[in-house]
Amino acid sequence: MAKFIINGGKKLSGEIAVSGAKNSALAVLPATLLLDGPSTIRNLPDIADIKRKLELMRELGAQVDRQGSTVTIDPASLSKTELNPGLHQKVRTSFLLAGPVVVKLGQIDFPYPGGCVIGKRPIDFILEGFRALGVEIEDHSDGYKLVGKKLRGGKIVFPRVTVTGTEALMTLAVRTPGTTTLINAAMEPEIPALAEFLNSCGARISGAGTSTIFIEGVDHLSGGTFDVIPDRIEAGTFAIMGAATNSHIKVTNVVPEHLETLWGLLKRANVKFELAKDFVEILPHDKMVAIPKDIVTHEYPGLATDLQAPMTVLMTQAQGNSLIFETIFEGRLFYIDSLNSMGADILMCDPHRVLVTGPTKLSGSKLASPDIRAGIALVIAGLIAHGQTEIDNIYQIDRGYERIEQRLQKLGADIKRVEG
Ligand code: EPZ
Repeated sequence: MAKFIINGGKKLSGEIAVSGAKNSALAVLPATLLLDGPSTIRNLPDIADIKRKLELMRELGAQVDRQGSTVTIDPASLSKTELNPGLHQKVRTSFLLAGPVVVKLGQIDFPYPGGCVIGKRPIDFILEGFRALGVEIEDHSDGYKLVGKKLRGGKIVFPRVTVTGTEALMTLAVRTPGTTTLINAAMEPEIPALAEFLNSCGARISGAGTSTIFIEGVDHLSGGTFDVIPDRIEAGTFAIMGAATNSHIKVTNVVPEHLETLWGLLKRANVKFELAKDFVEILPHDKMVAIPKDIVTHEYPGLATDLQAPMTVLMTQAQGNSLIFETIFEGRLFYIDSLNSMGADILMCDPHRVLVTGPTKLSGSKLASPDIRAGIALVIAGLIAHGQTEIDNIYQIDRGYERIEQRLQKLGADIKRVEG
């Protein structure tokens, strides 16, 4: 198993460019199978989850040709109606393939999705939505059979905001006869990006980016071209990394409008930074101050749950007590013990809340990455800490951050990947 070795306590400097957004690409790639022609998707991040998604699409029979960060997909040869359980369980969003296959081939056999460490990751809202559009769902011992011979538009009210649930139903509804309304839909930037791509291919979606989305089903969709939007979670993570190491760095290829809540919190913590049209420049600060009660994760445009762990690490360096409230997932605070083993002073109040007392000096330690975002948070902690930090299970980090150690080395970080 590969691991990172970090010698921390150094300031960073220079520029780092944000990659294409993992979570936007993971929604647009399956949607290309809905189309009646080939598509070109550009600015794809070179990460494990994308590789697996493309493998699944090839397994289903689509023609997938990747040249660097550009991939062309031709769904004409789509033929299989079952997903490879091994691959499928490694990519939570593989159920986004279900809608397009049901539309094109009438049915799909679908193994139970894998869970993951941040929570059981149910898909009940998605299955209910599929049923509302006329998909018959048989629950077998090892998965579901979805049959969609008589699809028709309908109204779907999500009990809770679900990002991939919104994407899955939007993708199915664009080729479902009649009008579909999605109520309590997710508003994350990946949703309007997906709608914009599908509309450029002839779909009729309105309201994407708001909590109510209207979709008129159409019989035909042409192929299209899509440039993956910048990854707001990478952008926020790198900005936090610059502040946590009290460095002067420039984070480029940023859409500042996607991170308004984060900028507000960084300002409250006395972090110095300048925002421009497509970059953020983090400047050295004299003293960071704690944010007593307002670091609360929330659906977009609230603070992204994927930035919760980096924010917690940042608050270990701020003067005072900060309460961090993770409202979306039940298993996203497992990394606290690792930070406390480095010298942080964090109290677990309940499975959703921690109280951080700072500032604390962090020292290097041997750690393991529990999930993508906690993993990068441990990297930030290692960059702050004096001495050597070892992070194991870095596959998790590779799932979300392209060539991360090479990019951080360019900022002057002493980080290396050790195989085996
Ligand atoms: C997406 O996950 C992202 N993943 C996550 O990023 C992100 O943390 C999450 O949205 C919240 O913003 C991708 O886009 C690939 P949800 P998703 O459906 O869609 C419950 C990362 O690190 N729920 O919005 O799976 C669910 O359990 C990942 O990049 C149901 O109960 O999240 C959760 O508590 C981690 N039933 C809440 O809703 C359902 O059918 C929100 O989940 C669906 C969801």
